[in-house]
Amino acid sequence: MRPLTIAMPKGRIFDEAVKLLRAAGYRLPETFEESRKLIIDVPEEHLRFVLAKPMDVPTYVEQGVADVGVAGKDVMLEEKRDVYEMLDLKISSCYLAVASLPNYQKGELHPKVASKYPNLAIQYFKEQGEQVEVIKLNGSIELAPIMGLANRIVDIVSTGQTLKDNGLVELEKIQEITSRFIVNASSYRLKGKEIQRMIKQLQAVV
Ligand code: PRP
Repeated sequence: MRPLTIAMPKGRIFDEAVKLLRAAGYRLPETFEESRKLIIDVPEEHLRFVLAKPMDVPTYVEQGVADVGVAGKDVMLEEKRDVYEMLDLKISSCYLAVASLPNYQKGELHPKVASKYPNLAIQYFKEQGEQVEVIKLNGSIELAPIMGLANRIVDIVSTGQTLKDNGLVELEKIQEITSRFIVNASSYRLKGKEIQRMIKQLQAVV
């Protein structure tokens, strides 16, 4: 049988997720985090790790090319992929917030909001009864208000350092975010034992 394939987000969540898997009893190579390889096989554990962009992890799992994955709640809410969300791993804790320059005043004629999460941003402002134009960016969202691209942003805040260093302030908190363990529906049927075991072991350490 092919190894259990786990889609992992590249970048900062990866290290935390690997730490958690190690704590859960999975023996992963020491050099694991240093490699630039996008597919890492760990035959001793019958595991294959696939390193994708965080926003793409649910796509790999939904399509079944990965059996399971680690994805942020932000990504899950933005992408709404058809996968099972089995466990809150309680890692990479942060929150989604609206931010702006300190002199921002409500009541713009054509409100613009920049975000990496256009769906979430539209949904949030709709709930607030405000119609906004959302400008989709792929990163460095904090640039937008400084450059005059949009007066407000919807973005992830973790330590708050990026907002601070760029002279922005938080206006409203939208949603707490942590990483989730997600599972493909048919993998869950076909490899139930292996997946259940992983969930159980993870559950014991979160
Ligand atoms: C994220 C997020 C903020 C920053 C928040 O960006 O979009 O910019 O981290 O973290 P902080 O509150 O601890 O400063 P990321 O580093 O993932 O890069 P990006 O700007 O390319 O999305």
